Amino acid sequence: MSVRIHTGTEIEAMRRAGRLAGELICAVGEIIKPGVSTLEIDALVDKMTTERHGISAPYGYGGGGRRPAFPGHCCTSVNEVVCHGIPTERVLVDGDIVNVDVTPILPKKNGWHGDTSVTFYVGEPSAAVKHVVEVARQALEIGLAQIKPGGYTSDIGAAIQDFAEQQNCSVVRDYTGHGVGQVFHTSPTIHHHRTPRGVKLRKGMIFTVEPMINLGTHEVDHLDDHWTVVTADGSLTAQFEHTIVVTKRGCEVLTRRPGLVKGCEDVPWAKLGPLGSFPFA
Ligand code: MF3
Ligand code: CO
Ligand code: CO
Repeated sequence: MSVRIHTGTEIEAMRRAGRLAGELICAVGEIIKPGVSTLEIDALVDKMTTERHGISAPYGYGGGGRRPAFPGHCCTSVNEVVCHGIPTERVLVDGDIVNVDVTPILPKKNGWHGDTSVTFYVGEPSAAVKHVVEVARQALEIGLAQIKPGGYTSDIGAAIQDFAEQQNCSVVRDYTGHGVGQVFHTSPTIHHHRTPRGVKLRKGMIFTVEPMINLGTHEVDHLDDHWTVVTADGSLTAQFEHTIVVTKRGCEVLTRRPGLVKGCEDVPWAKLGPLGSFPFA
């Protein structure tokens, strides 16, 4: 499947969607603490997206066959939940981690998708919790640093897998990054593990990188709700995601956040380089 090359005007529209996505993550960071339910996080994402004249892509997404449409405005994945956790009345407790994955569409009609996620600490993390979260955070950074025109999508997964395994973690294979734009999930597929050479990267391609890093096995299971993905061995898992556009020298992070995110020990993109782009120089 061919990969769309985006124009300057289209990239500008993606910057607006990406900025809202980054701002949603910052706002979520302000409310996360022990005692907050994942449904309260969902309500905040819904309210703020609506106020900004956007809509939440996850809401009503992907129903068909025996699988119901996704009921939340974001995914909230706690501890051993790899991704696609459904917001519920479940209350977060001290020592939990929760990945919040948002995808606002701006504008509402024929709009653009800004897809991003971070894993938050709830209260005080144990050493094991900290390890998997920090490896996941760095795995995304290392993946993004591989991107440049003339390179291949497979460069990203090779670097991420090498790093994660050096750190005694594993990389989920069954879920990938993806092309994104006016469509939520499209070509190219971005594997986060080593694969044969993929698609050649060109300036103007837009896609996500979103490695899911486990403390135990890379294998996953699915709950009966047809959405929730969990680690097969119940081990902890963490994920960070950004949407990027390939630039002349590297990539620009479209979902970068305006500053540090509370509860996330975030990388302050604004301080790393102009336009939050790789390479940092
Ligand atoms: N945001 C997720 C991704 O990174 C997709 C969520 S689909 C949903 O691709 F239906 F579960 F919300
Ligand atoms: Co996402
Ligand atoms: Co995504």
